[in-house]
Order: sequence, then structure tokens, then C-alpha cells
Amino acid sequence: NKSWEFIKTEVTGEKKNVAVITLNRPKALNALCNGLMKELSTALKAYGKDANISAIVLTGSEKAFAAGADIKEMAPNTYSQCIQGNFLNDWTEVARTQKPIIAAVNGYALGGGCELAMMCDIIYAGDKAKFGQPEIALGTIPGVGGTQRLTRVVGRSKAMEMCLTGNMINAQEAEKVGLVSKVIPPDQLLVEAVKLGEKIGTHSNLIVQLCKEAVNTAFETTLEEGLKYERRFNHATFSTIDCKEGVKAFIEKRPAKFINE
Ligand code: CAA
Repeated sequence: NKSWEFIKTEVTGEKKNVAVITLNRPKALNALCNGLMKELSTALKAYGKDANISAIVLTGSEKAFAAGADIKEMAPNTYSQCIQGNFLNDWTEVARTQKPIIAAVNGYALGGGCELAMMCDIIYAGDKAKFGQPEIALGTIPGVGGTQRLTRVVGRSKAMEMCLTGNMINAQEAEKVGLVSKVIPPDQLLVEAVKLGEKIGTHSNLIVQLCKEAVNTAFETTLEEGLKYERRFNHATFSTIDCKEGVKAFIEKRPAKFINE
């Protein structure tokens, strides 16, 4: 689609099954204006429905993944308008996507940018990446998970420190606290993120989707409830053609041929 104003999209990988969405608003360090978030949602919905796509990579520029919500656009906000317009509600398309999304973060991931990365399923970071929730310095607080997802991921003390000071953490620290799963030289980041998408794409898209849902359930419920979900999902896989095929292929010592059913 050539008509994007704020993003670029491309389908890549050897099997052409990995979609790459690049945030492309360089002059504003990919500040997440309404137009950008609308385009991102549209692209995610389209790839979500596209049977050829197994995984999605979301990235920005070398300088910035995204420097947060657009502060200039946010400036005239009033309380009543925020409530009546449900400000920030339409950002959640990212978290609603059923396919795996990998954030490939170079440079700044601040405020809404850090929250956007956390709505993805896996974060890979370039070794110059910086993560932070600087909203406090603007007299506001995070609005899309900076006090919630971050706390669940890095724990209360680190999340509290980040949210109350607005200080950034670097890629190495982000890896240490579990916010990112791998730190990579910046020029290799996208290649590695796509490889990760391709690896996931060798499995059944259907079972991958169930597995993503099962892992996410761990963040949304008690251990007991989560274990019940997991068990039922596990049982459900045995009703699929892909599970029969995967198990048969193992026994016959050959690669599995999944049909996503
Ligand atoms: N919104 C709008 N414009 C932004 C922006 C943002 N979040 N971040 C950067 N820009 C713009 C700057 O205004 C500047 O534009 P002009 O050239 O027109 O002046 C351009 O991008 C380049 O930025 P800087 O000159 O500031 O670049 P720098 O290298 O000196 O600093 C930075 C980089 C440290 C990231 C700095 O830009 C910065 O602090 N940005 C704001 C970060 C922030 O506070 N984010 C939180 C936003 S609130 C939020 O996200 C709420 C929520 O939870 C949803």
C-alpha cells in the first residue's frame, strides 16, 4: 500500500510470510499522532486477516522507535474531551492482534512509544535503545500500560522508579530486567527480528495463535485460572489437523507440513 503517510509496510522473509511495519514520521521522532495510530491499526487489521502472514515486525528508525504520544496534538486536551472521546482507547488494536508481533526497537521508546513496544509480544532492542516513561515531567502519567504492563514485566520497584523519575533505561538494563528478550547491534536488529518471525512462521499459525493467547492469559488472571485455560488449550490442540501432522511428522522423522487447521 503506497498511500500511507506515517508508516511503511513490506512483506518479507524467504516464504514472504513476515510483515514489517515501519513507523515513518522522522521529523517528529515517530511521535504517535492520531493519523499514525489510525494507519498502524489499519495495517495490523489487514495483516491479521491475511492468511499468508505468520508474524508481524514493528519498528521505527535508528534514532527513535517512537518518542511517545504527540505532545503537540495532546496539548489542547481537556478532561471532558478525553472522557467523551475516550482518549487513547483506539491504541489497543496492537494488543488485540492475534498474530505474534515483534517490536524491533532502535533509539528512543518513550512514553507511548515504550507502551507500544510493550503491547507487542516480544521486544528485541538495538544496543543504543532507550526506554522510559517520561510523562511525569509533562505533568501527566502513562495512559496505555506504562504503569500496568511495565509493572507486571519489570516488577514494582523498577517500574515505580521509571514512572516517578521519568528516567530512561538503556538496552542492556532493559534486557536485565526482562523488558527486552535480546540486545542486538542496531544494523542487525531488523534482520534478526525478521528471522525470529520466520522461525515462528515455521510452526502452525493456528497453534501459534493459541499459544500466544495462553501466554497472555498469564498476565490477565490468577495462576489457578491460567493453568485451567492452558490445560484446555492444550486439550484443544489435539482436535486440530496440525497437531496430528506435527506428531506424525516427528515419528516419521520428516518436517511437518502445517495447513493451519
Ligand atoms: N510529541 C511531539 N513531538 C515530538 C515528540 C513528541 N512526543 N518527541 C519529539 N518531538 C519532536 C520535537 O518537538 C522536535 O520537533 P521540532 O524539530 O519541530 O522542534 C523533533 O521531534 C525532534 O525532537 P528533539 O529536538 O527534542 O530531539 P532531541 O534529540 O533533542 O531529543 C528526545 C530527543 C529526548 C526523545 C526528546 O524529543 C523528548 O524528550 N521527547 C518527548 C518524550 C516524551 O515526553 N514522551 C512522552 C509523551 S506523552 C505520552 O506518551 C502519553 C502516553 O502515555 C500515551
